[in-house]
Amino acid sequence: MSGQLLRRLRTAAAAAVLSAATVLPIAMAAPAAHAATKVDNPYVGAGVYVNPEWAAHAAAEPGGSAVSNQPTAVWLDRIAAISGSSSSMGLRAHLNAAVTQAAGKPFVVQLVIYDLPGRDCAALASNGELGPTELPRYKSEFIDPIATILADPAYANLRIVTTIEIDSLPNLVTNAGGTATATAACDTMKANGNYVNGVGYALAKLGAIPNVYNYIDGGHHGWLGWDSNFDPAVQLLHQAATASGSTVANVHGFIVNTANYSALKEPYFTVDDVVAGQPVRATSKWVDWNRYADELGYAQAFRQKAIAAGFDSGVGVLIDTSRNGWGGANRPTGPGPTTSGDAYVNGGRIDRRLQAGNWCNQSGAGLGERPTAAPAAGIDAYVWVKPPGESDGASSQIANDEGKGFDRMCDPTYTGNARNGNNMSGALPNAPLAGHWFSAQFQELLKNAYPPVSGGGGGTSDTTAPTAPTALKSTATTASSVSLSWTASTDNVGVTGYDVYRGTTLVGSATATSYTDSGLTASTAYSYTVKARDAAGNVSAASNSVSATTASSGGGTGNAGCTATYKVSSDWGAGFNADVTVTNTGTAATTSWKVTWTWAGSQQITNLWNGSYTQSGKAVTVTNASYNGAIAVGGSTAFGFGASNSGTNTAPTLTCTAS
Ligand code: BGC
Repeated sequence: MSGQLLRRLRTAAAAAVLSAATVLPIAMAAPAAHAATKVDNPYVGAGVYVNPEWAAHAAAEPGGSAVSNQPTAVWLDRIAAISGSSSSMGLRAHLNAAVTQAAGKPFVVQLVIYDLPGRDCAALASNGELGPTELPRYKSEFIDPIATILADPAYANLRIVTTIEIDSLPNLVTNAGGTATATAACDTMKANGNYVNGVGYALAKLGAIPNVYNYIDGGHHGWLGWDSNFDPAVQLLHQAATASGSTVANVHGFIVNTANYSALKEPYFTVDDVVAGQPVRATSKWVDWNRYADELGYAQAFRQKAIAAGFDSGVGVLIDTSRNGWGGANRPTGPGPTTSGDAYVNGGRIDRRLQAGNWCNQSGAGLGERPTAAPAAGIDAYVWVKPPGESDGASSQIANDEGKGFDRMCDPTYTGNARNGNNMSGALPNAPLAGHWFSAQFQELLKNAYPPVSGGGGGTSDTTAPTAPTALKSTATTASSVSLSWTASTDNVGVTGYDVYRGTTLVGSATATSYTDSGLTASTAYSYTVKARDAAGNVSAASNSVSATTASSGGGTGNAGCTATYKVSSDWGAGFNADVTVTNTGTAATTSWKVTWTWAGSQQITNLWNGSYTQSGKAVTVTNASYNGAIAVGGSTAFGFGASNSGTNTAPTLTCTAS
């Protein structure tokens, strides 16, 4: 595995719209046929294979048995891994064990296909056995034998999830072809086409097997989340999906954050938050113009972008949450101070890395969300693909016969390079070779797990769940959102947060007793429940269920909804100017719109253009002018204003309604 990013965007592009419910078809009735018919989401209603080799390592660690029954992926990382050896299970041994674990029920086994020619071209830690030109060997000695085994009728009832060649295509986007971060090895792989053709071959060959579900690597938000990387990455994945005789039908979905540490959700900031009059995208070094703050937002946007680029509309995304928990004593409990973009983001971000390009054995990281099926819209599962406790790379040179090199990003004394913004590597010391068991890292991951692991050392061994939240109610609805509030739970070791479910889908988390679910469809009924979580990872029973119907967006023939974004264009202390952009996010043209907000401070509008306003106390209402009420679907208009001010200038939260 390698690293990462760089190549900064500086172009504007609309953030992708998040939506889309994952369709979860009911499994076929005949018991012998569960795998024969491909399902939309292989994880729904299925067990997942626990790799006995990983489980044995984990269980041997103090406290490790609390997680050793979690499913992790089997990495086919060299030709010899297919047959195995006297001391390690081969592919057939794993599949036979999976059939036993399945016990006749729907069952997923997760494989990583990882042996491309010239592997890991931007780093050294996971260089592989095949040289840059050895595509013929990759096909005949690696992919073909794997395909033969997977097609064995003995395994026809397994749902075989393959994640294909981690890091390879993303590396061609950021680390090849004249970029500041290019390496000679990635330039070679881009020029000779062997990554694209190898991935295409693997997809075609494995995708021809009816019970194989292929997922290809979409990097992570701290790698490809810049506008200038995002589109080229999706295009390149599409190119690979249609190379070597493959078609997009061989791609069941994507995986993000594989073996990386990017947070699933950053609860205390978004990149669009405005601090000291500027969006933090522009002012925080951590964000540095990235379009995304975390993996969930990135994954959902990636999916939309991929569908727009020609991938199947049913694709789903997997998120590797094995090591992105970021719990422990250093986890922030609220937003940072609003004195500057850096203070705000650095004080509030849960990802504690020195820089998001750091990728090797990160100090301070913890186990992330436990593997879960269908946790959010468009997400097939949270998975543990990188087996926690297996090293990312040696922290000093170690002789080996696996082709693995020594990458200084795994050396804690290294002061960095262009790919991590010349920061320290943040790696743990004394690490063994990539893929080898690293006990100290496992201990660290257990200690900093988030959600915490009961008995994991960082939490407590408490097993008492919080009381269920009560009095859940809907406090407001718009055409696209439902706001909820509830009465707090109690717990013997303290409630740490609440998870909000729409039906059975986890839509978000809150630390306070309120939450707004957005991106909804107008005039639609939704049903919610909330569960509380405590510091030891115990989860309460569900609250009462509440139903809420989103507002009608009017307009007669369709749905009109809108969003409004706020930007201070100049601020001279005693006053400021701001622009608000109103975008029609509905499915029909608007005829009128209204934007409201409440100031946190003493701001007072003095004049406003391209709209009409009233301000009463801190409450502001702006309606369209006669000439800009009509906005086409997807279109925007803007108004601006001048205001006086005598205190801090915190940006308000805007509410937009349209008809
Ligand atoms: C290593 C592989 C290993 C995998 C899972 C990669 O970084 O290169 O050899 O199987 O991690 O731990």
